[in-house]
Amino acid sequence: MKKLLYVKASPRSDKSISLKLGDAYLGAYKEKYPDVQVDEIDLWHANLPEFDGDSAAAKVSFFGEAAMNEKQKTVYEELVSIFNRFNAADDYLFAVPMWNFGVPYKLKQYIDLLSMPGTLFGFEPATGYVGLLKNKRATAVYTAAIYMPGLSKAYGTDHTTPYLTDWLNFAGIDDVTNVWFYGSKMRDAVETSTALEESLSEVRAAAMRTSLLAPAK
Ligand SMILES: Cc1cc2nc3c(=O)[nH]c(=O)nc-3n(C[C@H](O)[C@H](O)[C@H](O)COP(=O)(O)O)c2cc1C
Repeated sequence: MKKLLYVKASPRSDKSISLKLGDAYLGAYKEKYPDVQVDEIDLWHANLPEFDGDSAAAKVSFFGEAAMNEKQKTVYEELVSIFNRFNAADDYLFAVPMWNFGVPYKLKQYIDLLSMPGTLFGFEPATGYVGLLKNKRATAVYTAAIYMPGLSKAYGTDHTTPYLTDWLNFAGIDDVTNVWFYGSKMRDAVETSTALEESLSEVRAAAMRTSLLAPAK
C-alpha cells in the first residue's frame, strides 16, 4: 500500500491557493491509488520544536565534535521521531507559497529538523553528501502573487523551487515534479482563473504520472 505525506506550508487554510492545488493533487492521487494511506502535516499546527543549540550540538556530534550529553540525546530522539514520520512515506506532496523569494520559515524549520546525519544523509569528505532516502518521489506545488518567470529582478527571484528541489535531491529524492501557479496579482481576473485552471490540470496530471523509481508497494 502506498503512503503519501502531504506537507502544508501555507497558514491560510481555505484561502490558500497552494493548498487548493495540493488538494487537487491529492484527489487525483486517491483515484490512482484508492488504498493510499495519507498523512498530513500542517506545519503551522504541528508544534515543531525549535532547532536550538542542543539540536545543533546533536548534529555536529556526528562530525567529530563533543559527544551528546543527556539533554542532547533526548533532543536527538525527538528529531529521529520527526524523521521517522517523514521517512514512512513513499511519496511526498509539498504545498509551498513563495515567501520573500524563498520558502515559509516553518518549512525551513521542518527541513532543519529533518536534516540529520545518519538518518537523512551521510557525508564522505572525498565525494560529498549522500542522500539516504531511497525509492521515493516528491511533488511540490508552488504559488506566488508577483513573481513570474521572464519578468525583471524588480519582481523578485525564485529561490523557492531551487531550494526545495536541491534539498530533496540532497536527501536522496531525485524524482521531483514541480508545478507552479505564478503571478496571481499580476494578471486580470480572467487570465488568473485560466492560469489557475492550467495549474490545476498540471497537478492532476502529476498525480497520475508513473513513478520513475519503485513500483507501488
Ligand atoms: C509573508 C509573505 C511573503 C510573500 N512573499 C512573496 C514573494 O516574495 N513573491 C511573491 O510573488 N509573492 C509573495 N507573497 C504572496 C504569496 O506567495 C501568494 O499570496 C501565494 O498565493 C500564497 O500562497 P497561499 O495562497 O497558498 O497561502 C508573499 C506572501 C506572504 C504572506
